[in-house]
Amino acid sequence: MKIATVIGARPQFIKSAPVSRALRAAKAEEKFDEVLIHTGQHYDHEMSQVFFDELGLAVPRYNLGIGSASHGQQTGQMLAALDKVLVSESPDCVLIYGDTNSTLAGALAASKLNIPVAHVEAGLRSFNRRMPEEINRIVADHISGLLFAPTHAAVKNLRDEGITNGVHLVGDVMQDALAEHMVVAETKSHLLADLGLTSRKYILATVHRAENTDVPERLANIVTALNALARECPVIWPVHPRTLKCLREMEKPSPGLRLISPLSYLEMLTLERHAEIILTDSGGIQKEARWLDVPCVTLRDETEWKETLKDEWNRLAGADSEMILEFSKAARRKFQDHSRSSVKSAHAAELIVRALHGADPTFQLYGEDSVGASA
Ligand code: UD1
Repeated sequence: MKIATVIGARPQFIKSAPVSRALRAAKAEEKFDEVLIHTGQHYDHEMSQVFFDELGLAVPRYNLGIGSASHGQQTGQMLAALDKVLVSESPDCVLIYGDTNSTLAGALAASKLNIPVAHVEAGLRSFNRRMPEEINRIVADHISGLLFAPTHAAVKNLRDEGITNGVHLVGDVMQDALAEHMVVAETKSHLLADLGLTSRKYILATVHRAENTDVPERLANIVTALNALARECPVIWPVHPRTLKCLREMEKPSPGLRLISPLSYLEMLTLERHAEIILTDSGGIQKEARWLDVPCVTLRDETEWKETLKDEWNRLAGADSEMILEFSKAARRKFQDHSRSSVKSAHAAELIVRALHGADPTFQLYGEDSVGASA
């Protein structure tokens, strides 16, 4: 079976790594040939190549080099370039991940050519259609013939939209990646010493969502809260390039608020694991925080990962500086002595590969009703 995998943005490199590995490890008779296509959505070394190096990803057979542009232009350019590659490769299936513009372009390009689409991380919903990612997810799910849902809630979301055929509850590939790489990440713990940090005595923050970076008032509120926290303990903020551009006009951060370059996957895992609490607007980091038993304050008004909210391990503070401060202080108090467990693989990647192997070649039209395989 020839599978064309379309990836392009940082979280997709992480999500695809366990699946690519499982495809390579599949028995010879299953004969998977994976054609890796990088759209080029992320292109800086620290946003792309470093992930390929650390995660052991193959060199992409194609790099479309699309780069940054408005959403419409970026998606359109990807669609045109993918169309050519898919025509020449003629894969049996296109595998897409998550909710970025690369996901949407992969889904559209394949469906225009009647190539079946398989979506990893299907069924996530924020119910906020102003988020570009929400539209990408909805369209990708409705185009896909195989839908790999990470959670029961995701399966329910799909069912609520009338999608039941081809849905597989497989668990989370990001959990697979985390379980696999945490031990290696610990070899990077010199990073704490390099940054002059002590385990569980600093706060880790990340901000990159358009709803925060592109609304000056929201970004200013977040910076105000981070500045206030940084007067009590170090706050480390690896800054996404999009955010850096928007921050240039902002008030000067206090000395305890330390802006650093984007980190590699292993470096980020190390800083997450040892943080006292995490403040983030990233979906992936909310989940990683929960798996690592690190309390999280989410800088958004809603989350696709409602499971993380149980017992206040994660709380939604939006971009309200008072709420960010209150929730951060409460989390520091409540969880300060809580022990942290190790993370086990969800074996989602293996389940995905098994489902791909068992799929009817016409699954785009006749997806099996298969909800139930559970991690
Ligand atoms: C994208 C995804 C988002 C995901 C995030 C992970 C969409 C709609 N959004 O957001 O879901 O959580 O990736 O990081 O697809 N830039 C660089 N160098 C790079 C890449 C980007 O400088 O290597 C800058 C450019 O100014 C660019 C901006 O970041 O315009 C935004 O990049 P883009 O890929 O459009 O979206 P992200 O914010 O990264």
